[in-house]
Amino acid sequence: MKQQYLFAALAAALVQAPAWAAEAPKPAATLLASAAVSGASHNESLSPTQNLVLGTALLLDKEREAFEMQQVFRLALYLRPLRRVYDPNPDLVRNGENPNIEQIYTDRIKKTLGPDLLRRIDQMKLTHGDMEKYLREHGALFGVDWKKAPEFALVEYAVNDFHEQIAPPKTIDPKDKPDYFIANSIKQISGRQPGDGKKLFEGICASCHGMDGQGRFPPIVMKSYLSLHSDHEHFEIVKGGPPQKPGSPIVMPTFGDKLTDEQMWAIVKYLRTWEKNWADPKNVRRGEAEAKAAKVKFYSTPEVRKIWESKDPNVVLLDLQSDIAYRIMGHIPGSLHIRPEELGQKLKKISKDKEIIVIDMFGSQGLAPAAELAKAGYKTAYLADGMMDWHIVRDYPVEY
Ligand code: HEC
Repeated sequence: MKQQYLFAALAAALVQAPAWAAEAPKPAATLLASAAVSGASHNESLSPTQNLVLGTALLLDKEREAFEMQQVFRLALYLRPLRRVYDPNPDLVRNGENPNIEQIYTDRIKKTLGPDLLRRIDQMKLTHGDMEKYLREHGALFGVDWKKAPEFALVEYAVNDFHEQIAPPKTIDPKDKPDYFIANSIKQISGRQPGDGKKLFEGICASCHGMDGQGRFPPIVMKSYLSLHSDHEHFEIVKGGPPQKPGSPIVMPTFGDKLTDEQMWAIVKYLRTWEKNWADPKNVRRGEAEAKAAKVKFYSTPEVRKIWESKDPNVVLLDLQSDIAYRIMGHIPGSLHIRPEELGQKLKKISKDKEIIVIDMFGSQGLAPAAELAKAGYKTAYLADGMMDWHIVRDYPVEY
């Protein structure tokens, strides 16, 4: 299975934290009263969110058989956006984020766990001492300073624990990943200047991911994609490559032995600047202008929900996600699934009288096919923010 499309496994290697991880002030969006582990008594009980996150991670560790695969998968999906609440990185764009985001995701985690597992978590009677023990045991995983950002570390480590359960069992060993030629001119860039991340990205990553990062593979600079990944996770992906199965058509090289930590963090910081870019509505995605010129109509997620609820027989919800995404990430119930590569052949099934709403995962990769459909004379529309917005942000109904 190729779930690593979204779930990059995190190499168990000690990495050096960037300056902000240790020094940055706590973000204003941090809602949890920060009872730093060291400040609280070891016997004191945890806040409800800390209790929930630690409890699910410990349960997964001790009672794996109590969980179903789908459950583990969904919990991992909900833990990811939760960590944004506590992430100390000042470069994260949080403007406009729902102030109840913490509550929203803890509610979803509770719903996914169900009453039995929740009861078991309560019975654990977890304390700050347990949290510290857990954080200590994970201390070598990332450069997250758990003493300075205990809540962030807790969620980050819990996400990692869930990844381990869903990562493909057999992945390519980093040593078997291809070597990658890096020009000496790039190697000489120190990684200290603000523009260095961009230079490094364009010199190294763009050959596969595109100069604008919106190319093939996951479009790694999309807002929907960036919001799911922490900087530490991105660092690990650059360092050791994403987990890929043997036989993958293109293997992403590892860079841990070719770039300095500083250079890799500069690339990660550059990726994060795309969030600021997307915060400005003037900036359009690759293919958006062409799709609009071809008269593709753009719908917001709530608009598509209304259309879906109306069960209008003249509308086809055309899901162009990969098989894995359609089945495991979920799809809008009743949508028609066609793999992007089969669109040409299977299009004939759809009548030109109907409105086709093209759906993809991140609100990016369906733009080009939508423009093609419109040019071929189909009445075409597009779910502008993809399934990430439908499912992860809004928790609208999905089928697996
Ligand atoms: C030789 C081509 C190639 C180069 C060069 C390359 N990548 Fe990748 N990258 C890939 C492929 C292929 C995937 C998809 C892996 C998969 O899911 O099987 C990928 C996936 C990713 C992902 C998503 C991982 C996930 O699972 O969510 C990120 C982030 C990423 N690359 C960042 C980078 C950065 C940053 C650089 C430059 C330092 C880079 N890549 C250089 C080929 C490349």
